[in-house]
Amino acid sequence: MLQSLAVLLVGDVFAESGRRMLAGYLPSLKRDLKLDLAVVNGENSAGGIGLMPRQAQEIFAAGADVITGGNHTLARQEIFPLLQHEPHLLRPANLPPSAPGQGWVITTTRGGEKIAVVSLLGRSLMPVTDLACPFATLQALLDQPLKSTPCILVDFHAEASSEKQALAWHFDGRISALIGTHTHVATADERILPEGTAYLTDAGMTGPYYSVIGMNPATAIARFTSQGPPRFRVAEGPALLNAALVHINPRTGRAEKIERVSAGPL
Ligand SMILES: [Fe+2]
Ligand SMILES: [Fe+2]
Repeated sequence: MLQSLAVLLVGDVFAESGRRMLAGYLPSLKRDLKLDLAVVNGENSAGGIGLMPRQAQEIFAAGADVITGGNHTLARQEIFPLLQHEPHLLRPANLPPSAPGQGWVITTTRGGEKIAVVSLLGRSLMPVTDLACPFATLQALLDQPLKSTPCILVDFHAEASSEKQALAWHFDGRISALIGTHTHVATADERILPEGTAYLTDAGMTGPYYSVIGMNPATAIARFTSQGPPRFRVAEGPALLNAALVHINPRTGRAEKIERVSAGPL
């Protein structure tokens, strides 16, 4: 009998405490959940903004097979060479073609199954200019490079729940799973759509528990009340890991199960 593929997507790893949670928990999650693939969103892993080669290497060393991106992926130029040379480190696919790296990869699980991972950015309430339409971008990927496998995981890094739901419904049955990231707040709406695409609006963050989406609360409050310069600091203290686990039929690419996974706060 064909075993389903167990794929985990870990939500935005934020700064040092997020990396600590990942290193502390991902190895045991891989073992206990019998993961075939571990995908980690790394766009906030260096001090909350972007990532550099050191953080990318740390995330790979913790057990990530693929690192996905977001609006902060290109925040630090130091990462550009690694984006060019490491196919398992992704930036959003709908950035302009001149951006370093690429937004998708087809990788092989330990059991020899092929699975595609796509990193994509939403356009609603997203402060990034020159983004191509995520619907058209994903359609073009499905028409061409991703044709060779039915197993496709999309990390849709977007602010608006409506945009995330619309993309998932549009591609229902044509991708295995669409997991949202970016808001840093986990949602409880995991489900499998009628044609077999697993969906979750946001996996949540892997980072500081006592925080405003990762930042020190006082510095975040000041931004909204104009009581001081909006100079963010990373929050300290315990951290939480948030992720989504999807089981995929490797023959059809349809999702069989989706559940939320969390650890901490620690
Ligand atoms: Fe983020
Ligand atoms: Fe983001």
